[in-house]
Amino acid sequence: MSAQPVDGTDAAATPATGGEQIVTPWDVEGADGQGVDYDKLIKEFGCSKITAEMVERIERVTGMKAHPFLRRGMFFAHREMDLILDAYEKGEKFYLYTGRGPSSESLHLGHLIPFHFTAWLQKAFKVPLVIQLTDDEKFLWKDMALEECERLGRENAKDIIACGFDPKRTFIFSDVNYMCTPMYKNMMKIAKCVTLNQVRGIFGFTGESNIGQVGFPPTQAAPSFPDCFPHMFGENKKSLRCLIPCAIDQDPYFRMTRDVAPRIGGYKPALIESRFFPALKGESGKMSASDATSAIYVTDTAKEIKNKVNKYAFSGGQLTVEDHRRIGGNLDVDISWKWLNFFLDDDEELAKIGEEYSSGRMLSGEIKAKLIETLVPIVEHHQEIRNSVDDAQIDAFMSTQPRVFASLFGDMGDIAGALDEATLANAKPGVAIGAPAANDDGVKKAQQTQAQTGENGEPMSKSQQKKLLKEAQIAEKKAKQAEEKAKKKAEAEAAN
Ligand code: TYM
Repeated sequence: MSAQPVDGTDAAATPATGGEQIVTPWDVEGADGQGVDYDKLIKEFGCSKITAEMVERIERVTGMKAHPFLRRGMFFAHREMDLILDAYEKGEKFYLYTGRGPSSESLHLGHLIPFHFTAWLQKAFKVPLVIQLTDDEKFLWKDMALEECERLGRENAKDIIACGFDPKRTFIFSDVNYMCTPMYKNMMKIAKCVTLNQVRGIFGFTGESNIGQVGFPPTQAAPSFPDCFPHMFGENKKSLRCLIPCAIDQDPYFRMTRDVAPRIGGYKPALIESRFFPALKGESGKMSASDATSAIYVTDTAKEIKNKVNKYAFSGGQLTVEDHRRIGGNLDVDISWKWLNFFLDDDEELAKIGEEYSSGRMLSGEIKAKLIETLVPIVEHHQEIRNSVDDAQIDAFMSTQPRVFASLFGDMGDIAGALDEATLANAKPGVAIGAPAANDDGVKKAQQTQAQTGENGEPMSKSQQKKLLKEAQIAEKKAKQAEEKAKKKAEAEAAN
């Protein structure tokens, strides 16, 4: 199928055939069974490489050490991240948007990548976030009842919450449940700008695709515009810029969105995109939730993790110990090494393992043991937090109660939002992988240089800031009162 460039700046995807690599939201395959060629993908898709300078700039602007996914190049490509940083340095904030298609009971480790990174971005930039659960998408693509997709969305929300989001600044929504006039209006405006030929080119739809699939892309595009969420961002389509963290498989949706954005009066969403966390059996594609031997799930036990790594993790080791000692392990193909790069926080230890393994001093069984030792506590920690997420917490994250705009951007956790405080008091968000504690001095400095931002995205005047501060103080007072009241009620109930 030939590519249909949507506009001059963002080249369209080429759903490839005949030995070429294929990267779409539904299929990822390297050319001729090889790994994905990411440099080629950057050229084909028309995005930009994340440079060492950009990583440094992010550290400077946020006052935080870059997340390992960023400093090790897992997040490797972007679209207009520089523009987001320019605006942020001038005091303009933005919001984050990411999502999940709920097609399975639990997530695999690859799915955690964008969520852990997004939790870090939220913490580093102190910005609000919306998370879309595309239950409608999975209904249209899979042989599943719509109600089942909805149920899986709520189940998956527990895993997402366990990645450590701030409940006061995060809105998780199911398409089926949230669909509302502002969102629908955006979808219609987007849909009218895109022809059938264009979506065929971008997504590879054929005459056999159902018309729900063909009509779905505007649903994933719409949350890139802040007026889809009036309870958080008001009704102005340009009140805030949007930054989307995701793996590069989702790029086609947002190439389309970026093309349409100026035509419907919005900012083009910016993107920060990751490589695929490779499958256990080798790096020829992304991990599949439907092949248990290609993936480790967040629900796997320590024993299952150990068995899967030992049995299936593709090894770059040599066939005999003698050869291995002489030639060394091949880091380019070894999955244990690649996975350690994602999940082992300690840079020095990682470098040492690379050195030992590639020189042949460390054997394949030993690097696998190191991987198991690294993964088990991460997965167990995730399970512990996930198991503590209850319905009240999910409801708090999914609540559409108006939120105090200023509180979405304040210091993490210092100002109460307008969500029901008794519910929020129960929230125990998890800890993100690799999220270092904020460097207080750096953060304070960064905060001092950031002027408050108003509903229209412009820096606010002193009197506007005063007004918002007052609003926030009233909200804080009210929240404290609600908390006191809830506490007294609980005590009275306990006494009865
Ligand atoms: P889904 O559920 O397929 O994937 C959820 C997120 O995980 C990323 N991902 C991976 N990242 C690294 N390695 C992997 N092996 C891997 N597999 C999946 C995906 O890129 C995605 O970020 N249609 C979307 C849901 C969605 C969305 C969004 C995603 C709706 N709006 C906005 C990103 C941004 C989907 O089905 O994702």
